[in-house]
Amino acid sequence: MTDPLTIRRLYGRRQGHALRAGQAELVDVLLPTLEVPADGALDAVRLFGDDRPLAIEIGFGKGEHMAQQAAMAPEMGFIGCEPFLDGVVGALMQVRDRDLANVRVHMGDAIEVLERLPDASLDRGWLLHPDPWPKARHAKRRFMNPGPIGLLAAKLKCGGEFRFGTDHPVYVRWAMMVMAGLPQFEWQADSPQDFLVRPEDWPETRYEAKARAKGHEVWYFRYRRTEVPAAIVTAA
Ligand SMILES: C[S@@+](CC[C@H](N)C(=O)[O-])C[C@H]1O[C@@H](n2cnc3c(N)ncnc32)[C@H](O)[C@@H]1O
Repeated sequence: MTDPLTIRRLYGRRQGHALRAGQAELVDVLLPTLEVPADGALDAVRLFGDDRPLAIEIGFGKGEHMAQQAAMAPEMGFIGCEPFLDGVVGALMQVRDRDLANVRVHMGDAIEVLERLPDASLDRGWLLHPDPWPKARHAKRRFMNPGPIGLLAAKLKCGGEFRFGTDHPVYVRWAMMVMAGLPQFEWQADSPQDFLVRPEDWPETRYEAKARAKGHEVWYFRYRRTEVPAAIVTAA
């Protein structure tokens, strides 16, 4: 099993161009009110002040999908993880413009949040168009590896849902291999339509739109967290 720590080092850019004044103000004023606390155990009460169902989005990009999901489920709490500052600014704009009260943001590696959540505490998780790292020698950098996804499985409730999307042919083959090796997940597909057609409650992401514009096929995977007990999960 790949240890979650093997992706502890984050790869890729964390900041692009300098922020405009309005963007900097969002980071200085709005972000501190939404930020996931830096230390200690996390749960719904600490993050949202009540015992609401929780969801996590890993690598939310500019936050459009997370914001749409949060708007569709105001009774849930959404934890978004994204190390890229421009992306965090995008999510803050979404939160401000849609007046969302149910989003918390971690500007960093999703592993840091997952490790601090109790087991069986998440109802839903998303990994949409993760960085593909297409070269075989970079495969360990992919979030889709048994360590990180096994950790996510431990944090999902039985019956909870994990969604994964990609347009990358190398990544999709890799992902199917990784997921097939994790008995904690059951693929929710009866026919090709179930992974070739985007479900209605799956808003299109920025990367997905770019992929479609290039003529790429996009694959949509839904997995149900099974009842495989935690002891087997750690040994898998
Ligand atoms: C290709 S982009 C896709 C963004 C968005 N999900 C979309 O579909 O438009 C992948 C994102 O994952 C973020 N990312 C990479 N590793 C991550 C990690 N360990 N934790 C959280 N986010 C991560 C990157 O910063 C990047 O913004």
